[in-house]
Amino acid sequence: MTYGSFPGARPRRLRTTPAMRRMVAETRLHPADLILPAFVREGITEPVPIQAMPGVVQHTMDTLRKAAVEAVEAGVAGIMLFGVPEDEKKDANGTAGTDPDGILQVAIRAVRDEIGDDLVVMSDLCLDEYTDHGHCGVLDADGRVDNDATLERYAEMAQVQADAGVHVVGPSGMMDGQVGVVRDALDQTGHEDVSILAYTAKYSSAFYGPFREAVGSSLQGDRKTYQQDPANVRESLRELALDLDEGADMVMVKPAGPYLDILAKVAESVDVPVAAYQISGEYAMVEAAAEKGWIDRDRAILETLTGIKRAGANLILTYWATEVARGL
Ligand code: PBG
Repeated sequence: MTYGSFPGARPRRLRTTPAMRRMVAETRLHPADLILPAFVREGITEPVPIQAMPGVVQHTMDTLRKAAVEAVEAGVAGIMLFGVPEDEKKDANGTAGTDPDGILQVAIRAVRDEIGDDLVVMSDLCLDEYTDHGHCGVLDADGRVDNDATLERYAEMAQVQADAGVHVVGPSGMMDGQVGVVRDALDQTGHEDVSILAYTAKYSSAFYGPFREAVGSSLQGDRKTYQQDPANVRESLRELALDLDEGADMVMVKPAGPYLDILAKVAESVDVPVAAYQISGEYAMVEAAAEKGWIDRDRAILETLTGIKRAGANLILTYWATEVARGL
């Protein structure tokens, strides 16, 4: 090795041509890495665009079926369904979330009917889409989110979603004990084969903003008493241990981009599949900057997803899933 004259090592040799760079790439995205989150809204006849998420809509049951078929054709791994009930169906207990004919349950049946087992069908298991106060659980007399009363609601949700035919439930409310309660509820109702994708490290994030529009959330205040503080790392590892102990089949870190360190730590310490959720605000930032002509949209999208996979994600939930899968 000579220093000071000419370099003895020339890493640039491996970057000389596209073929060379392709050959030595350490991270490759595959359509089967990707899961499409999708919103379906009750009582509409045309899809409703989400302003803060250009290109994403609240689906009708019909367009949801089409989106599921397109995802299958593109080779996407799965679809994560979110239900948006009619406003007047929201109440303090989130009753529509456990109605067998509630919007999410209807959507699960429709998608299973359309694509069978060709996509892994997943559902958000949380009350915030169905409560009039917008919190992820039910409230006690003082207006605080009541952990244990909420768990009872989650148990019922797990059963109705599984009855509707979902393959995987995604408890996302960050209540203590939610994975264990959901596992018991599934097992006791004959749904031993339904898996749990645990939102293990879910941070209280400003980047959920556009999602609140997507589900027509009426949240006043914030979720800081149940979602994690962005400052913390160890707390995530504790949540991880608990979720695995309670029976999580897969674990998730959310958001993705600002939490790649958490993702890497989780990925190196588990032997279950690890997912990352590239959330609404991460999507919106790229779309907005691209619309202004400030960044190259397609390159930026692939770079964000490559970074998430490189950090250790086996699965990535992204609103770009179908588009990216088509291009790979
Ligand atoms: C809770 C839930 C949220 C998201 C997924 N599940 C919202 C929240 O926790 O406030 C956010 C997804 C996104 O922003 O893309 N049901």
